[in-house]
Amino acid sequence: MTTTAIQSAYTLLNESIMYYEGRPVGTVAALDPTGPAAKNYEECFVRDFVISALVFLNKGEPEIVRNFLETVLQIRTQERAMTGHEIQPGVMPASFRVVADAHGNESLLADFGERAIGRVAPVDSMMWWVILLDTYVRVTGDEELAERRDFQRAIHQILQLCLRDTFEVFPALLVPDGAFLIDRRMGVYGHPLEIQSLFYGMLQAAQDLLRPTPENVKLVKMAIKRKQALRTYVRIFYWLDLARLNEIHRFGTEEFGAGSVNMLNIYPQSIPGWVEHWLPERGGYFVGNLGPGRMDFRFFALGNLLAILFGLATGDQTDDVMALYESRWADLIGNMPVKLCYPALEGIEWELLTGSDPKNVPWSYHNGGNWPCLLWTFVAAAIKGQRHELAHKAFERACAQLPGDSWPEYYDGRTGRLIGRRANLNQTWSAAALIFADQLLQDEKGLAMFPREPGP
Ligand code: GLC
Repeated sequence: MTTTAIQSAYTLLNESIMYYEGRPVGTVAALDPTGPAAKNYEECFVRDFVISALVFLNKGEPEIVRNFLETVLQIRTQERAMTGHEIQPGVMPASFRVVADAHGNESLLADFGERAIGRVAPVDSMMWWVILLDTYVRVTGDEELAERRDFQRAIHQILQLCLRDTFEVFPALLVPDGAFLIDRRMGVYGHPLEIQSLFYGMLQAAQDLLRPTPENVKLVKMAIKRKQALRTYVRIFYWLDLARLNEIHRFGTEEFGAGSVNMLNIYPQSIPGWVEHWLPERGGYFVGNLGPGRMDFRFFALGNLLAILFGLATGDQTDDVMALYESRWADLIGNMPVKLCYPALEGIEWELLTGSDPKNVPWSYHNGGNWPCLLWTFVAAAIKGQRHELAHKAFERACAQLPGDSWPEYYDGRTGRLIGRRANLNQTWSAAALIFADQLLQDEKGLAMFPREPGP
């Protein structure tokens, strides 16, 4: 069964390869024979391609990854010259496509959020680009690419953009709604966990990649300081387990001044009813979002799993997240790994936080759907947490289901038993995630591909 699933996944991945001037430069998001749900699924998304890239790097085919890294950078330069639009230096596109004119001359057309549904800013793209570059160098040893002037400049600009002064008091990065995998309104504005995990991984990667030139020294120092502050902040303030819930439940509020315990002034009344029942005796997770007077208790898988992978979580926190997965398996894995966000927003919350988005109805799509593309992060985190049996269990579930269902983009329902109502079929990252998960299970040395902090 596994072999057939992997073969089928490879067929899809290979067919999805996108060419520009004869060179492979990326993979399209979906190859749905019935037509994609939206036009831009024919494009190569930066966040989607990362998983394809991990597969190609791991099997010794780095060329497409190198081409991709260069292409995205090239688009960045073109875009500024073409439109004169005020996109900040450092911002990377959400996606791009190759267009040909009547004479067959090809050019690249990118989306920096100005064409995207809802006009959302892809903040995660620049993070993924740096992390992928670091992984590419780590795997191939091709340091020359990262040392190129245009690459060094891009890393410098990304750091400058992310580290520049803001009005903020805390080290977490402030972003607008829908700035990452969840690219629709979902109440994920502010300081969503996924962005903080990616930011942390990016800071580590940039520190590895930037050459110690006089103009970089100050920036790298700032990056190191921010990374350390972010790590402490996330580990303490985003963390939730039963002991912490007890503290929050009894929090004093309206504390002014230096000695306050409840620094963000979280009102105990804001703890949703489901949390107390749902949190197991042993286990915990990083909450989805945090800000003044605001703790979003929802569990977001990707932020938690990347926190483990990049070493933002301590060893104990890693064990606890895995313990949570084990005791809440039906909710967080269910019939298809992996639930994107738990629980779903319903009723008035859904109306207010999604803007009554019919694609994000409760237990569908971003709002509580199950996403096969997350399988690789679950497998990687489980291996890192020494929970190989959980990794295998999730992997086998996915193998048994995905090829027969034609690689859906997502599943609906509390336990993910239904193919997503508006899901594409033949979604590339669903297939790539299965292959990369298999590669990691075959040889866990693959985990060394990622930027990570040594020790707790
Ligand atoms: C949807 C997802 C986004 C993904 C894109 C292509 O817009 O929300 O995260 O990158 O599809 O698969």
